[in-house]
Amino acid sequence: MNPKLIAPSVLAADFGNLQRDVEMINNSEADWFHIDIMDGVFVPNISFGMPVLKAISKHANKTIDTHLMIVDPDRYIQTFADLGTNILTVHYEACTHLHRTLQAIKAAGMKAGVALNPHTNINVLEDTIQDIDLVCIMSVNPGFGGQSFIENTYKKVSALKEMIVQKKANTLIEIDGGVTDQNAKKLTAAGADILVAGSFVFKSENQIETIKNLKAIANS
Ligand code: DX5
Ligand code: ZN
Repeated sequence: MNPKLIAPSVLAADFGNLQRDVEMINNSEADWFHIDIMDGVFVPNISFGMPVLKAISKHANKTIDTHLMIVDPDRYIQTFADLGTNILTVHYEACTHLHRTLQAIKAAGMKAGVALNPHTNINVLEDTIQDIDLVCIMSVNPGFGGQSFIENTYKKVSALKEMIVQKKANTLIEIDGGVTDQNAKKLTAAGADILVAGSFVFKSENQIETIKNLKAIANS
């Protein structure tokens, strides 16, 4: 079985000490950088944009996993490729022509991800799952860090895992929102491959240790 991965969400970092926090992730057992881009339209919050991602990319030495919470994401696919994104995730709810968007992401040299809001059933991906490298199941309503985990997520993970196996797809499952050492094991046991963690990592005393422990629990 593939090892389960940890992707700290930079949204919860200290932006006044961004380079320090990026280096912390570089030096930890974390696998990916999770980058949350919000536009204040698709979600009721604005996070940060291209100049900040450029600064992060300059120092980050691990996979950059960019989560776009924006309307009409097609406008920025090439921009995010140029900024060093390795995996670009768009929201199912923000794409009118999802299949076309996925092809455009791959044509720009990135892996293609699709995020689902808590209210969106996984069945909507039945006809595209073979074209999707990663499905990000939102376990909170997107827009803010530090929210509590929605329990219905476990059921969605198992159902999605079943769909992936049945369709012989090569899709990874990522969980985003409210991940802690309390739900990590249950999520990976249900089929999750990557756990995003913002507040749980950055609000802890010893962030390197927290990442290490979370990874051990996810893989236990
Ligand atoms: C929420 C973002 C998440 C967020 C997770 O809209 O997509 O990536 O940073 O933060 P925590 O782990 O604090 O819920
Ligand atoms: Zn995210």
